[in-house]
Amino acid sequence: MANFQRIAPEQLRSRYWFDNPDHPGTTALCIERYLNYGITLDELTSGKPIIGICQSGSDLTPCNRHHIELVKRVKDGIRAAGGVPFEFPMHPIHENVRRPTAALDRNLAYLGIVEVLHGYPLDGVVLTTGCDKTTPAALMAAATVNIPAIVLSGGPMLNGWRGAERVGSGTIIWELRKRLAAGDIDYAEFLSRASDSAPSIGHCNTMGTASTMNSMAEVLGMSLPGSAVIPAPYKERAMVSYDTGTRIVDMVWEDVRPLDILTREAFENAIVACSALGGSSNAPVHINAIARHAGIELDNDDWQRLGHEIPLLANVMPAGAFLCEEFHRAGGVPAILHELNTAGKLHGDALTVNGRSIGDNLEGRETRDADVICRYADPLVEHAGFLNLKGNLFDSALMKTSVISRDFRERFLNDPNDPDAFEGKVVVFDGSEDYHARIDDPALNIDARTILVMRGAGPVGHPGGAEVVNMQPPEALIKQGIESLPCLGDGRQSGTSGSPSILNASPEAATGGGLALLESGDRLRVDLKRGEVKLLIDAGELEARRERLAQQGGYRYPGHQTPWQEIQRSMVEPLDRGMTLESASKYRDVARQHPPR
Ligand code: FES
Ligand code: MG
Repeated sequence: MANFQRIAPEQLRSRYWFDNPDHPGTTALCIERYLNYGITLDELTSGKPIIGICQSGSDLTPCNRHHIELVKRVKDGIRAAGGVPFEFPMHPIHENVRRPTAALDRNLAYLGIVEVLHGYPLDGVVLTTGCDKTTPAALMAAATVNIPAIVLSGGPMLNGWRGAERVGSGTIIWELRKRLAAGDIDYAEFLSRASDSAPSIGHCNTMGTASTMNSMAEVLGMSLPGSAVIPAPYKERAMVSYDTGTRIVDMVWEDVRPLDILTREAFENAIVACSALGGSSNAPVHINAIARHAGIELDNDDWQRLGHEIPLLANVMPAGAFLCEEFHRAGGVPAILHELNTAGKLHGDALTVNGRSIGDNLEGRETRDADVICRYADPLVEHAGFLNLKGNLFDSALMKTSVISRDFRERFLNDPNDPDAFEGKVVVFDGSEDYHARIDDPALNIDARTILVMRGAGPVGHPGGAEVVNMQPPEALIKQGIESLPCLGDGRQSGTSGSPSILNASPEAATGGGLALLESGDRLRVDLKRGEVKLLIDAGELEARRERLAQQGGYRYPGHQTPWQEIQRSMVEPLDRGMTLESASKYRDVARQHPPR
């Protein structure tokens, strides 16, 4: 247990607003309006910590909506520990409904949280999270403002079932699309089966971006141990909400801040754990973004260097067979960390929100079911982390190796002289509308060894970066049993997708990246061992194409539809740098700058 010097009530940040004899007029104005709904003068002025609760639940955000109930337990905990809770809204982010993409809102929500935490009388904050981007937005803001902060996940939905078969969120949609394309099911059946995947309150029950990022919050040390994947309806979810409320009050007195927790070691733990979880391909984007806001340089080379060798331990969809309810019962994130720590892969002394080190928190937390959380020595897949590919078209693109299927390996990685390399002819699409309009056109001559390329889908080309790289083969191919083709693109893909795509290519076509120079019919060579993707073309031809493109004014993409799209596009960084706002990452620890604490 770390030994923290407790702060005195006069040192509470909220005193600047609520008890500031130098500015009696301001103090009176700040106090009087909070009394108008029944808060007492005593609550505001007797030296109790004021705790914000950032509410990410609303009717627009079903994945997080039960936080409306859970925060009642958070408030009970805050009160019991001697604090005063103030709930405020987070900009809504709902992953699978928001258009053009929920990723556009991560940075917007981040900005909103930063302004609230900086500008209001808060001594600490509980950040309620769940659906994909709510978690990184909250953690990025916590790093920037640096007041005591704790993350409370809403937890995943219960398992989805169709008869005796597990139905996983998102993952089932990718599967059903193929069945629909093959003519095996109709539209009504499609909708009925899709709704089987959402049996209760909570976020996606697969190891998609939501479960990954909430697990990452726990691994980083920012939420209570064992809390990340407790299913939303379980009684333990409400209990840990109460514990989160009591703990944040102590964190204020102990002055434990996000930047004490979000260290280089914590981020390295996150990379290692993400591989073992078979975590979402969106995790590197968000983790790199949180690191940038914490002032730590982290890039996709770190992901490959530290993460690629780590085996897959979590047998959870899309990389495995089970769902988060079973993952929680098998021991959840602590059981994964226990395996990694025993194997010497974790920085065990990294601090966590409960004041103990991550290693100390793992006592007695081994896996309770080795079919769901495997032993390190007996994993599901060896070397299951991300590869960071480079070449003559981009500086960085990620491949999630844990989801490369046997069929894919047999079809593409089958050169006995070079089992890690494959070559193919590309067919190029400019954005998802172009893909949907043309994918079934027989003139494209797409066959079993074609590489599908998606460009114009990065944070500038498609504001926020579209989750569209995992492209389904043409219907005719699916009917022949070819259910996946290698895909490459400058956009993202859903964390619930099991596609072995090469994605997040940076820089993107819209900002001068080499994908803009590709033409359908070009040949690409992908060499996983060397970490290379190469366009097989002579240098003169590539240069000529570059000149032609420059003469046309560069790669064209659709215009802005809203003010925020224009603002974000003017300052967003590429996916490999976390898609952060260029000017935002220079602000750090802002709560200490103004007002005084
Ligand atoms: Fe909200 Fe998956 S759509 S968590
Ligand atoms: Mg998504």
